[in-house]
Amino acid sequence: VTEPDHQISIALAAAARFLGESGVPEPRVDAEILLSHALAWTREELLARLDEGLSHRDLQKFNRFVSRRGDRREPVAYIVGVREFYGLRLKVTPAVLIPRPETEVLVERAIALRPGRVLDLGTGSGAIAAALAAHLPDAHIIATDASDEALAVARKNLPKRVEIRHGRDFQPTAGEPFDLVVSNPPYIPTAEIDRLEPEVRHEPRIALDGGPDGLDVVRRILRSGKKALIEIGQGQADVLRSEFPGVRFHRDLAGIERVVER
Ligand SMILES: C[S@@+](CC[C@H](N)C(=O)[O-])C[C@H]1O[C@@H](n2cnc3c(N)ncnc32)[C@H](O)[C@@H]1O
Repeated sequence: VTEPDHQISIALAAAARFLGESGVPEPRVDAEILLSHALAWTREELLARLDEGLSHRDLQKFNRFVSRRGDRREPVAYIVGVREFYGLRLKVTPAVLIPRPETEVLVERAIALRPGRVLDLGTGSGAIAAALAAHLPDAHIIATDASDEALAVARKNLPKRVEIRHGRDFQPTAGEPFDLVVSNPPYIPTAEIDRLEPEVRHEPRIALDGGPDGLDVVRRILRSGKKALIEIGQGQADVLRSEFPGVRFHRDLAGIERVVER
């Protein structure tokens, strides 16, 4: 006999209620993802087996994940260790920014440009470089990051043919020619970081902090004079338009000018 709280449907409902009360935006979805992870099942499997029982051990494991999500507001991706980006399953840890759907705008434009040699500056999990590698089979791709811990994650996500180098800005590739530089650099103004939702504070500061107006690294890339596609934040396009005449912008699905191209 299964105790009532050991039934999948009941455990899910209780977890979703707790997560909702904790301020988590999508409590039911998160509860399902976390229970699937605890059981090492797919979400489809879980939803087909709601009437089944849970072992005491699995319930405890699930409750630990739920507490990390609700009490500590850890992002789901860090708890389960993977995140989907551009159709790829990427490993993620708190050493890397969690890849965001809006970055797919930059990837699409980069693929359309068909570069032969491309630099992904600030690769993090390797998200952009991995997507380019999957769609540009002949491109020579170099991925760099100022964080060694991030590169250890990128190494797990990137195919062997992507060159990985450590260093800040253009230091690891000084003087080398590229057809295109792609980058999703840190672009949040320093003072705004602590006002963001609690999940973001689990992400690495070096991946977020773009200096006083958020544009420190963006400007350094634009000043290099190289052909570039760089992700930016909402409201940052106008200042770049006036500082760098001739740049153009690509909008994301929400209509926000998300990528600067020069
Ligand atoms: C916003 S994250 C983007 C990660 C990944 N490209 C993505 O789109 O998900 C920015 C990354 O740039 C790295 N970074 C920050 N400043 C840098 C710099 N000056 N030079 C190189 N990398 C830098 C951070 O360590 C972090 O991994």
